Amino acid sequence: MNAKDFVASLSEEMDRLFARLGETETLEAEADGRVDVVTLLQLALKSELEASELAGFWMPTTPEIDAKMVLALQCGDEMRHYDLISRRLNQLGVDLTSFDPLAEGHSPLYQYLRGLRTTVERIAAGPFASEAIAQVRNAQFVAFCRAVGDEETARLYDDVIQPEELHHHLLGRDYLEKHATTPELQEATGAAVRNTLAIADELRTLAAKTTGVHNIPVS
Ligand SMILES: [Fe+2]
Ligand SMILES: [Fe+2]
Repeated sequence: MNAKDFVASLSEEMDRLFARLGETETLEAEADGRVDVVTLLQLALKSELEASELAGFWMPTTPEIDAKMVLALQCGDEMRHYDLISRRLNQLGVDLTSFDPLAEGHSPLYQYLRGLRTTVERIAAGPFASEAIAQVRNAQFVAFCRAVGDEETARLYDDVIQPEELHHHLLGRDYLEKHATTPELQEATGAAVRNTLAIADELRTLAAKTTGVHNIPVS
């Protein structure tokens, strides 16, 4: 398959998975049911920090200049999102002085991503797949903010954060369309995307639906 068709089919596969999500499902999954604006913004701080750290960690050991550019941009953008979200939390009366977003350690997805060694896997799992998940999660968060009357938080995401997460995803897509050209590279790309979808906290509840595990009676 040529790289463009291959990437299009991966995108369709992700969209089919996302279409199974209930309207607040990513939020409930990541927050263990504690769906409120402050909790979700604090969890977003952890996601932004992890995304920034990963892009920065990968940058010097990713030899391709076009991939370095994606990672360097992302590293800066995600830390700027961290700052914007911190400011919003301050406006909401939350004191972050002693808040440690990594108090419970890095996420399972971060651990997986950190172990990826090849550039197509990194770009597939990071900018391409993780940023697609971020888009879906953030869209659910924006709808939730509006439903509870927090227009200002909704606007921060609509106007600044969401367009930049989309940009990161599209940069990843563009890279894979250029470089995932052989069966071997496409296999590595597909595996990295599927592992990311399987591990992400936001999609945790989908795994049960997909495999039917929740239907197995516990004796
Ligand atoms: Fe971000
Ligand atoms: Fe991003």
